[in-house]
Amino acid sequence: MSKSFVEFYSKNDISPVSQDIVDLNKHFQRRESLFRSLGLLPSFIAGKSVLEFGPGSGHNALYMASLKPGRYELVDGNPKGVQETRGRLAAYSDSQVEVHQSLFEEFQTDAQFDLVWAEGCLPHQSEPLPLLDHISLFVARGGGYVVSTANGISYLSETLRRLFRDRFFTPSGDVHQQAQQLKPYMAPHLQHLRGMSRPVEDWLLDSIIQPLQYRKLLSIPEVIACLDNRFDVYGSSPRFLTDWRWYKDIVGENRGFNDRALESYYTSNLNLLDYRFDFSPHSHEFGKKLEELGSQSWDMMCRIEKGEESAWQELFLLLQELCAHVEKFAPETSEAIREAMTLLQSGHPDMELNHFPQWWGRGQQYLSLIRKND
Ligand SMILES: C[S@@+](CC[C@H](N)C(=O)[O-])C[C@H]1O[C@@H](n2cnc3c(N)ncnc32)[C@H](O)[C@@H]1O
Repeated sequence: MSKSFVEFYSKNDISPVSQDIVDLNKHFQRRESLFRSLGLLPSFIAGKSVLEFGPGSGHNALYMASLKPGRYELVDGNPKGVQETRGRLAAYSDSQVEVHQSLFEEFQTDAQFDLVWAEGCLPHQSEPLPLLDHISLFVARGGGYVVSTANGISYLSETLRRLFRDRFFTPSGDVHQQAQQLKPYMAPHLQHLRGMSRPVEDWLLDSIIQPLQYRKLLSIPEVIACLDNRFDVYGSSPRFLTDWRWYKDIVGENRGFNDRALESYYTSNLNLLDYRFDFSPHSHEFGKKLEELGSQSWDMMCRIEKGEESAWQELFLLLQELCAHVEKFAPETSEAIREAMTLLQSGHPDMELNHFPQWWGRGQQYLSLIRKND
């Protein structure tokens, strides 16, 4: 049984997933922007049934609850997160809100829902695909399924920051002390991330300190391949889908939404590598190769974190290949990756950096899908 996240969070009695909601209007605006990008009209949620997996401490759930779904059920396995989500949603006790403490794998209900939401909780599972499939069973025919994704390209900037920790720090003390040790190095990097709405310590606990060497990412092509028979891609955040077909032409058994989504994806996935730029479309082959290099970088990080020292050398060769692959289109990104490599090779965490701190990938993406009327 997978205990990804839940084991680490409950063992340390943490739920490192808070969001800055001091300005609630701004928080709700961010959430509304996400809904728009996914093709969801906020007003259409009223009266509908919604099932959310992994709400964390319920910061994002506040927005969903404010849209007044007819029934809103949430599932999380971390006792602290469940308690905090219940507290946060208490103001909505007049509507039908229910927070279940359960592992995703063990959650069962006879009901099916108009919208099923799994945000920030499938990538970094030890086996994300069976969970993606299990959760999909709760989506009603014609209903929506929203999942977040991450892959080796979008996560490379964070993979290299994890490797910075691996290279220069030996974990000592509890997880909070480890976070304090890393903070002076990473906080200046996070200052470059526009729109960051999480506390630095939460990000450190969740993305850098949490053991991930036995975990997997979950890419957009993997989600599509897994759900292809039963779901059509509908929207995404960031928006990368284009489909110039005349709607009158989109008929028949297989209306090709998923093929179109994959084509759009592989001709634009360079954008996942660096959030600072909007890159022009590239060839499908270029995108496939990039995807492959990204996946390998995650695998190498996992091997290094399992103690395989020889994987460092393979990683440096891979990064060189990746830089050569993207250099022409993304010279600044390539420069940042090369600087990160020099840092990891230099043996000194205090090396002066001019490019790496500014570089962040488009870490997490979202896909909305519609269950077909099978
Ligand atoms: C990183 S947090 C995401 C929180 C929130 N959705 C967000 O995006 O900010 C992942 C949440 O999913 C829960 N979770 C992950 N895997 C789980 C599993 N297999 N069963 C139950 N809960 C799980 C964790 O306890 C945690 O609250």
